[in-house]
Amino acid sequence: MSRDLAVFNVARAPDGALTMEGVRLIDVAREFGTPCYVYSQAALMAAFHGLDRALRTARAGRPYLICYAVKANSNLSILSLFASLGAGFDIVSGGELRRVLAAGGDARKVVFSGLGKTADEMALALEAGIKCFNVESEPELERLNGVAGRLGVRAPVSLRVNPDVDAKTHPYISTGLKNNKFGVAFERARDVYARAATMPHIDVIGVDCHIGSQLTDTAPLTEAMGKIVALADELAAAGIPLHHVCPGGGIGITYRDEAPIDLAAYASALQAALGERDVELLLEPGRVLVGNAGVLLTRVEYVKPSTAKNFTVVDAAMNDLIRPSLYQAHHEVLNAGESSAAPLDCDVVGPVCESADVLAYNRRVSAREGDILALLSAGAYGFVMASNYNSRPRAAEVLISAGVPRVVRKRESFDDLIAHERV
Ligand code: LLP
Repeated sequence: MSRDLAVFNVARAPDGALTMEGVRLIDVAREFGTPCYVYSQAALMAAFHGLDRALRTARAGRPYLICYAVKANSNLSILSLFASLGAGFDIVSGGELRRVLAAGGDARKVVFSGLGKTADEMALALEAGIKCFNVESEPELERLNGVAGRLGVRAPVSLRVNPDVDAKTHPYISTGLKNNKFGVAFERARDVYARAATMPHIDVIGVDCHIGSQLTDTAPLTEAMGKIVALADELAAAGIPLHHVCPGGGIGITYRDEAPIDLAAYASALQAALGERDVELLLEPGRVLVGNAGVLLTRVEYVKPSTAKNFTVVDAAMNDLIRPSLYQAHHEVLNAGESSAAPLDCDVVGPVCESADVLAYNRRVSAREGDILALLSAGAYGFVMASNYNSRPRAAEVLISAGVPRVVRKRESFDDLIAHERV
């Protein structure tokens, strides 16, 4: 790979060792074992500040709030870091709400997305006093009205509308098209708002959408923004003024050679859509804040040449990082040390008993047994999507802060694996 490593928040030391915040990743692997997720606090902060600066400039004193999408990486240390920077949070479950609160996040800055909220989750969020529910259907609205009524409170609500915009990303992470399970159809939105406005325990406060993830072109995002701002205008004219507008998350990152989104241009496009309207702008970014701030370290178990195809077999697998198997996602693979091994054209595969257990297809890798490889851009949708398939304990998570690596989640043990089982 010839590209600048800086976008991945790693660098090569003069002796060839791959470093993050000046820390040699082979030392991290030696100290904490593999597979191991490693995050850079400096990179997390830089990502947050980069987006925050773009919004602050574009909004020029008008209100906005970055609600970090917890699903991208919900480690408590990361939530606590973003909370300390003033972030709000976008959650999709009671579990994520509890994590935000455990990490010291402010419930009043939490928006609750997701199309299957249970009555218990609604009650938990109402009791915590969250900022807003992003309601995704009419039956959900009815249920929320009922739960809020039983608790004697009013639920702040924003409808997640489906603007029918093609995000042009992988179909599994595209969410804004008509045939999708998410959101209220755009044509229905006015009627649903009108109904919501009459409900005794609902306060209509906003409009929300989210069209997909890993978008590398902002045109669909700004098109969707235009649609929801126009809807907000119509609602205001109909006597339902909104306090906030949210175009969701979706900002893509560099995995291979994608040009990064120009955040300043994106923020000013959003501002251009809003103009002088007196509303708060909310965003729900996940990946862009954490994706390039993390790597997954794995050790080479075997180099397995074969007639049709060569394989580098590593100790991480699809249970640790499922993105390549599930979305044909690309993660760069680098030897974390300096390898004198001859380059081999191969697939980098894990030990799980599935042909789909491939972490990287058709790469040229120089590695010997025992070498440490780094899979880059693994900070988003990495550990959070890990499972125990094949009875594999989940990896450790390490956060480097001010040049010091610390465990922020212990590697699971065999006892953890069977803790909830009974014979
Ligand atoms: N808001 C809502 C309502 C969402 O559903 C999502 C992501 C986000 C915000 C954050 O999107 P982001 O800024 O991270 O693109 N596991 C997939 C990505 C799934 C995204 C699901 N929703 C992956 O590994 O690519």
